[in-house]
Amino acid sequence: MEPKDKIILALDVDSAEKAKALVAELHDYVGVYKINSLFNEEGPSIVKEIQDNGGKVFLDLKYHDIPNTVANYAKAATKMGVFMFNVHAGGGFEMMKAAADAVKESGAEKKPIVLAVTVLTSIDQKALNEELKVSGSVEEQVNHLAKLAKKAGMDGVVCSPKEIPIIREACGKDFVIVTPGIRPAWSEKGDQKRITTPKDAVDAGSDYLVIGRPISGAENRAEAAKKILEEISS
Ligand code: C5P
Repeated sequence: MEPKDKIILALDVDSAEKAKALVAELHDYVGVYKINSLFNEEGPSIVKEIQDNGGKVFLDLKYHDIPNTVANYAKAATKMGVFMFNVHAGGGFEMMKAAADAVKESGAEKKPIVLAVTVLTSIDQKALNEELKVSGSVEEQVNHLAKLAKKAGMDGVVCSPKEIPIIREACGKDFVIVTPGIRPAWSEKGDQKRITTPKDAVDAGSDYLVIGRPISGAENRAEAAKKILEEISS
């Protein structure tokens, strides 16, 4: 893996033009591009355009449905040749296994990394216990769902950098950990509350860092991405 593949840029923009401009500007420092609402705006053509411009795609659509339907989503994502995609661990063991099996059985030369989302970082203790009626702490639920995801054949999880130690301990060193909530010391926090610097996240064991505004909102975007790449490579 090239060092720049550790950086996943969140393409939180609303048009193919804006997305392509970012890929063109940043391809020396960023290997992977995460899309979600942009996929709804532009469809599969945006995946192909990013790939044609040398970028890898993280399709962040967090599938959550009955196993058969999620298997169909997984097949479609694999066919598009995405580098990674994700599902909600809350969909259960059979659903996650259906996604993992669909990828395995696809015969695709390059198989995507399949990630599970454990507990959304927007869910706090109170919401977990009182709205979702799940007892125990957020950490216990993250630990439980990460282990279930691994058992079901998921390659890894998306989680807060603060959860890395729990997941490493539960799932071992080969389990892929992808973390948003990254803020270099020199950038604005924005609405992110529990943040970690790029270097601290990598030192804690994160394999891939999802970064949006510290790069896309910087005055000199290529310079910002370069600085982050240097920070995690040092
Ligand atoms: O701009 P910023 O660096 O905050 O962007 C982070 C990206 O990661 C956004 O696309 C956001 O939706 C996503 N994300 C997150 N926290 C999560 C899961 C995803 O910030 N727990």
